[in-house]
Amino acid sequence: MIHWCITLTCLVGLFISPIQAIKNTYDYVIVGGGTAGLTVGDRLSESGKYSVLVIEYGYLEPEGQRPGTLYNITSAPISGLNNKTFPVVVGCVVGGSSAVNGMVFQRGTAKDYDIWKELGDGSLRDSWNWVGMLRYFKKAIQLTPPKPETAAFGLRHDAQYWGRNFSTNHTIFATFGNVISPKIYPFYEAAKKVPGINVSPDAGSGQPGLQYYQTSTNPYTGERSYSRTGHWDGLNRANYDLLTATRVNKIIFDRNRAAGVQVYPRGERDKKTVIRARKEVILAAGAIHTPQILQLSGIGPADLLRRAGIPVKVDLPGVGYNFQDHTFIPAVSFSWSTSPPIPLHLNISVVNDGLGRTSLGLSIGLPVISPSSFNRIASRYESQDPAAYLPKGTHKTIIRGYHKQQQIYAREMRAKGFSFLRATFSGDPSFVPIVIHPVSRGTVLIDPATGSDVEVEPIVDYRAASNPIDVDVAVEEVKFLRRFLTGGELSGYNATEVVPGPGYESDEALASWVRANTIPSVYHPVGTAAKMPREWGGVVGDDLLVYGVRGLSVVDASIMPTIVAATTSMTVYAIAEKVSDDLDFLTLNYLIKVRAGASS
Ligand SMILES: Cc1cc2nc3c(=O)[nH]c(=O)nc-3n(C[C@H](O)[C@H](O)[C@H](O)COP(=O)(O)OP(=O)(O)OC[C@H]3O[C@@H](n4cnc5c(N)ncnc54)[C@H](O)[C@@H]3O)c2cc1C
Ligand SMILES: *[C@@H]1O[C@H](CO)[C@@H](O)[C@H](O)[C@H]1NC(C)=O
Ligand SMILES: *[C@@H]1O[C@H](CO)[C@@H](O)[C@H](O)[C@H]1NC(C)=O
Ligand SMILES: *[C@@H]1O[C@H](CO)[C@@H](O)[C@H](O)[C@H]1NC(C)=O
Ligand SMILES: *[C@@H]1O[C@H](CO)[C@@H](O)[C@H](O)[C@H]1NC(C)=O
Ligand SMILES: *[C@@H]1O[C@H](CO)[C@@H](O)[C@H](O)[C@H]1NC(C)=O
Ligand SMILES: *[C@@H]1O[C@H](CO)[C@@H](O)[C@H](O)[C@H]1NC(C)=O
Repeated sequence: MIHWCITLTCLVGLFISPIQAIKNTYDYVIVGGGTAGLTVGDRLSESGKYSVLVIEYGYLEPEGQRPGTLYNITSAPISGLNNKTFPVVVGCVVGGSSAVNGMVFQRGTAKDYDIWKELGDGSLRDSWNWVGMLRYFKKAIQLTPPKPETAAFGLRHDAQYWGRNFSTNHTIFATFGNVISPKIYPFYEAAKKVPGINVSPDAGSGQPGLQYYQTSTNPYTGERSYSRTGHWDGLNRANYDLLTATRVNKIIFDRNRAAGVQVYPRGERDKKTVIRARKEVILAAGAIHTPQILQLSGIGPADLLRRAGIPVKVDLPGVGYNFQDHTFIPAVSFSWSTSPPIPLHLNISVVNDGLGRTSLGLSIGLPVISPSSFNRIASRYESQDPAAYLPKGTHKTIIRGYHKQQQIYAREMRAKGFSFLRATFSGDPSFVPIVIHPVSRGTVLIDPATGSDVEVEPIVDYRAASNPIDVDVAVEEVKFLRRFLTGGELSGYNATEVVPGPGYESDEALASWVRANTIPSVYHPVGTAAKMPREWGGVVGDDLLVYGVRGLSVVDASIMPTIVAATTSMTVYAIAEKVSDDLDFLTLNYLIKVRAGASS
């Protein structure tokens, strides 16, 4: 028996609730009570067949108070962004990043997930593609459909992309609120007329274009819907425990099998103890801390581990590589001479239903962003030596995997279904363009100087804009916004560019402006324990089991081999739902074999 505390609330001391003792062995031990961790915990404990423990370093924040607890991490200086450093923002609280995120709730395009299959090991046949993921988007999310009156804004919705009504509050809600700014309508009308831009049939259709999107909002209360409210609060299962304010220090092995984790209470590192897992240890610590825990446990690039003085369990060079995030420019803005008029049919009284704002987004491919340059950019990218812009000394398997990604991205740069720009219409002539599929790759690696200390944050090196192609794409995005605001439908309103403004005419001038103004993260870190074949630098297979050991899997944002053209939480929920099914042996017969081998 372990003597310190324990689930729910004794650590914050706010509620009177029975103190439940943490056992020393569970079937599944989940590391990280964040977005994926609590979803998997709920699903694995649902049937009552398995005992499940989730271990979370953050606290269970008081009910009703918007939690805001974060890790304190600063990135390495980014040479492609004038050597600046940036905060690395990740949630440290029950619910993880889903407890602190912006609640913008989107799916990627079908292409994003089909590419995951191309980058897979093929062992699960078709399940890691759009069709396979759609099934789990439907299971993961309960839609609050748009109210009929919002159709006047051009809001389209198609129920086929959503699941049935689950009639439960133990789910994650995607909600269309009634508040839509009529000022965005002129942008909607103008964007529809740009060659190549379509109106998506539904925000969840997997098709790029113009779409109104939801927020993760509880439709009954108007409050945040996140992994804690959907997958922990009120469940009260005897076989589902949550241990808060507890840090997982490393994974413990019985020979080659992950047998448990070493943990200690927050702030009390001398009180280390072991909790054992009969079936699996499941890593859900997020894309920054999952690679850290793997490396501290001896799974990672052997040369790094040796320098840190950590015995090598598995030489797995890809752990902490393939790091990706979206990048953005805070403002490209204009001023109107006269604002475009709001059409009369939108002068309707839409009752504010208290469910927040529904926003209009644009998601477009490179041929639409730049009909004149997309082919040149694609050719330049595909002719690069794949190692040229990766960190010096990158392992050959990782280069091979990146080469595969490079071939796929170059192909998709010439296609319309793969987005390279995402932007949201605010109603004002001001935009925050996001490079939604960067080709630069960063790293999340422990500092060999501080060795095996989990309290020392890993070195987070975004390496944003290390590959100049990302700057080329961002430059074309700025030029696209210029053309959109001053040409076509909107040309009559005589927009004047405010930012970047005069003096940024040439591509060279714009490129240096992009480097000076890009932020390397939209808080969507992914990819650091990629689901790719081992010979391509992957860390987990299609079954999400870590290569080289048994009984260890990763289920969080780290497994995405390539980032999706969307905010990332909805995709994380779908991954978590999918792996829970796989773990429970319900769906895929051939997995039974793999998993049985893994956990015997
Ligand atoms: C500020 C911010 C804004 C965002 N905005 C949006 C948005 O608007 N829409 C959207 O869809 N996505 C958004 N995201 C991204 C999205 O929330 C994440 O991609 C997603 O939640 C990641 O889920 P995860 O399960 O991989 O990790 P997380 O949810 O971060 O969970 C990881 C958990 O593991 C815990 N942990 C880590 N190390 C240890 C350890 N050693 N021991 C014990 N516990 C540990 C952490 O405390 C954390 O709770 C945002 C993220 C942030 C931070
Ligand atoms: C980050 O710093 C703040 C302020 O010092 C602190 O309250 C918080 O606990 C720190 N977060 C972590 C994860 O240590
Ligand atoms: C960034 O730092 C490196 C190494 O310190 C230096 O060589 C380079 O000139 C710096 N770049 C900029 C833009 O300041
Ligand atoms: C789902 O069903 C419940 C009752 O069964 C109902 O109250 C709720 O409005 C329904 N939700 C949706 C989105 O249809
Ligand atoms: C969900 O919660 C709301 C209030 O918060 C309640 O009215 C509704 O009946 C609940 N739905 C279900 C299916 O329990
Ligand atoms: C909107 O409609 C109201 C009456 O329904 C009218 O008084 C008002 O002038 C209209 N506003 C615009 C901008 O047309
Ligand atoms: C835009 O400029 C032209 C030429 O100067 C002028 O004729 C027109 O009225 C202006 N339009 C608006 C909406 O200000």
